[in-house]
Amino acid sequence: MTPSLIDPFQRAITYLRVSVTDRCDFRCVYCMSENMSFLPKKELLTLEELDRMCSTFVGLGVQKLRITGGEPLVRRDIMTFFRSMSRHLETGALKELTLTTNGSQLERFASELKAAGVNRINVSLDTLDDEKFARITRWGRLAQVLKGIDAAQSAGLRVKINAVALKGFNEDELFTLTDWCASRDMDLTWIEVMPMGDLGNEDRIGQYWSLKDLRRDLGQRYTLTDLAERTGGPARYVRLEETGQKIGFITPLTHNFCESCNRVRLTCTGELYMCLGQEDMADLRKPMRDFPNNDAPLVEAIRAAISLKPKGHDFDYSRQRADGQVSRHMSHTGG
Ligand code: GTP
Ligand code: 5AD
Ligand code: SF4
Repeated sequence: MTPSLIDPFQRAITYLRVSVTDRCDFRCVYCMSENMSFLPKKELLTLEELDRMCSTFVGLGVQKLRITGGEPLVRRDIMTFFRSMSRHLETGALKELTLTTNGSQLERFASELKAAGVNRINVSLDTLDDEKFARITRWGRLAQVLKGIDAAQSAGLRVKINAVALKGFNEDELFTLTDWCASRDMDLTWIEVMPMGDLGNEDRIGQYWSLKDLRRDLGQRYTLTDLAERTGGPARYVRLEETGQKIGFITPLTHNFCESCNRVRLTCTGELYMCLGQEDMADLRKPMRDFPNNDAPLVEAIRAAISLKPKGHDFDYSRQRADGQVSRHMSHTGG
């Protein structure tokens, strides 16, 4: 079957990331400012509208749905939405239903997620040190997240850890995090920090730990074998021969992966962002709400938006400045 959403650069769009809330119970320094103002609840798409939106995308060839936020599990009644999406897994239209979470609510929801057909989740965790965790998330508590990860694994969910690589912050935990993930049979993906949101006093260049350097450091202890396999996301993977585990690298700065981009992002208010690193977006809420019984205008708006998908982001630190910065906070589009 030929996928039906093709952008101007001949990329098939088969992956939709959906931010179901802009709220979060943490305030990670690279993601949010300390005093965020959140959207009034009435601005949000209802769960029924989210269903209609996602189902329309599935009808247009989207095969992978990743639920994000903010923190997706703080949205009220979100399990109703997961359960209703699982019908698309049953028909085979959707190949994967998954989420990226900070882990804080997993103890409560892990089993229900598994029951809804989620098999694999990504948990964001940058450090295994209580004090550093509290510092980077401002509001978070490590113990709660670790309990969440335990619950997820007990429920049979495969867990991948996402860590943002931060100079002077988790450089010294490269091996600790690797060993911890290996001991729990979890993969680990490192992400280069991107210049998003109001940088305020944040020193992005100072914080930036390039994955080229990280990879070299990892190579001092382990034998790295490049893997051809892909999950449909931007990560490139290696296997550590000594432990057998997979390590992923998401390198918006050192190696631009936009040419193989297959994804777009829907915000909780129904805006479609065609690129994480650009400001272009299309309002899908209006064509959906204006025509409650007719999806054609929504489909047309989706196609029009995809025809405007930019070639890629312009993030660049090579001039010792955070070029290509995007003022939107990461929590708005969910990473
Ligand atoms: P897998 O399905 O496990 O491969 O996940 P994924 O990498 O698609 O999703 P995940 O939520 O783990 O993504 C991790 C992070 O990668 C995101 O939060 C973003 O920071 C970054 N990322 C994902 N997609 C893009 C993209 O299109 N452009 C850029 N610049 N970064 C991205
Ligand atoms: N740069 C890179 N990754 C980020 N994330 C949030 N903000 C940034 C940023 N500025 C990551 C989180 C989480 C995912 C949703 O996005 O750590 O893994
Ligand atoms: Fe919340 Fe995730 Fe942003 Fe941290 S990175 S503030 S956990 S949405």
